Amino acid sequence: KKPQTQDDLLGNGGELHQQANAEHPPLTTQQGLVIADNQNSLRAHPQGPTLLEDFILREKITHFDHERIPERVVHARGSGAHGFFELTHSLAAYTTAKVLTEVGEKTPVFSRISTVAGGSGSTDTPRDVRGFAVKLYTKEGNWDLVGNNIPVFFIQDAIKFPDLVHAVKMEPDRAFPQAATAHDTFWDFISLTPESMHMVMWIMSDRTLPRSLRMIEGFGVHSFRLLNAAGDSTFVKFHWRPKLGMQSTVWDETVKIAGADPDYHRRELFDALSAGEVAEWEFAVQLFTQAEADAFPFNHLDATKIIPEELVPLQVIGRLVLDRWPNNFFAETEQVAFCPSHLVPGIDFSNDPLLQGRLFSYRDTQLSRLGSVNFEQIPINAAKCPFANHQRDGHMQMAQPAGRVAYEPNTLSPDSPRSDRTNGFVSVALDEGGERGRVRDASFADHYSQARQFWISQTETEQAHLASALVFELSKVEHPHIREAMVSHLLVIDAALGQRVADGLGLEKLPAAATPAQPVKNLPPS
Ligand code: HEM
Repeated sequence: KKPQTQDDLLGNGGELHQQANAEHPPLTTQQGLVIADNQNSLRAHPQGPTLLEDFILREKITHFDHERIPERVVHARGSGAHGFFELTHSLAAYTTAKVLTEVGEKTPVFSRISTVAGGSGSTDTPRDVRGFAVKLYTKEGNWDLVGNNIPVFFIQDAIKFPDLVHAVKMEPDRAFPQAATAHDTFWDFISLTPESMHMVMWIMSDRTLPRSLRMIEGFGVHSFRLLNAAGDSTFVKFHWRPKLGMQSTVWDETVKIAGADPDYHRRELFDALSAGEVAEWEFAVQLFTQAEADAFPFNHLDATKIIPEELVPLQVIGRLVLDRWPNNFFAETEQVAFCPSHLVPGIDFSNDPLLQGRLFSYRDTQLSRLGSVNFEQIPINAAKCPFANHQRDGHMQMAQPAGRVAYEPNTLSPDSPRSDRTNGFVSVALDEGGERGRVRDASFADHYSQARQFWISQTETEQAHLASALVFELSKVEHPHIREAMVSHLLVIDAALGQRVADGLGLEKLPAAATPAQPVKNLPPS
């Protein structure tokens, strides 16, 4: 639009003084007061001090001063988009969850894909796991599938998570590196945590160098349970498979991209969605019973293990389509609060000790990240189905329920919400007989078989990339004993791999292979 006249535009300092008109409404304070001049604060005289009286200046600056909120303690850098989930095959035999039984139903979703270690301003392309979080606004409440692009995890028990993250994140004295994997504290912790060896193989593969956010896989990682109308329970693992196929960059390209365009992935997704393209994934499940699980040569409650597709094939039952970039990054992508304990009736948790800890952590951190118990009222977090309860008050309360009753049971309200035994969420009935203790089942103790299975399932080129990634990352480690400890683990996974990395690092003497806690099995390549 052309400015009206030169007089309208120029203030006495020569600056632009744009004026309200038929198209542009007046600028106001938060109280609705129309502002006459947004360029000059109130001065005692043209060369004098600014007056404390200037409430317009104070309101504007005070709000600006408080614009930032804490970034996520992990997964701080991420990009999100809106879309839908569509079910193509019903799981009615296994679950009562409507989102998994009503074929053709389109459930709105918001999804956020993230890196783990870097801050919110870090580059998009470090060698790092990608978070893959999907909030499904179902008719029965929000269901959050908060997964990663790697089907296993570093640790088996949530109590280790703060240590893992402290080792992965930038070191506390020097505040670098932002990259997760190229430093002493990461490899120190990993070399003392043999259960992480399977994850390490995935991390060092090209999977952590995605070409686009539209080309990554997603995994729920843990086993969950499905519950049908008869109360029968079936275990389930969730998978997202990208329509464009899984594609990676090679390391040298990745390094160049990080320098040339730190926003590479965010920009690519933004450009694609703005141009009318979509990001699409197939949704697949692995279903298995307790009896089948008992016959696996590993424990499915151990998040460092996959369930090979040879044992339990994938069934594709739906699709996820992301087609709309959010209107406002802060309001939606930044304020969205995913939580693994957001479930719908017909789905339940397993006893995976990593998952059990996660059920507590997310809401807890979000209370400080978003600053109020009422963060669920932020539009991106609010359920899109009816919801009602007796929670009240608290910082930033937006709801205004009428009436005097905020408790249950009551006789004073004709229409207050009550619990519903027929349609409500019911936890699976389990006999948890056993001895209490800080123990892990012995079946969790084979840390190398699946790492080897992953290694031998790689092509020659993929193996070459993986081995040189290990050499590159470990060459950044200052302490020789940490490098040697890592080589001793690699020797158990595969002797030739251990030798190759030792040669690449120029180790003079090959260390002894680590002693596995449990005999290593030779599993077929997955
Ligand atoms: C984010 C804790 C393991 C996937 C987070 C956040 C915390 C956290 C505190 C920040 C949440 C926020 O500020 O909104 C934990 C704990 C874990 C664990 C305690 C282990 C005990 C995992 C695993 C996965 C995962 C195994 C994948 C299966 C994610 C994702 C996000 C996230 C995708 C980012 C969510 C978003 O986009 O906002 N985690 N995490 N985490 N975590 Fe975990």
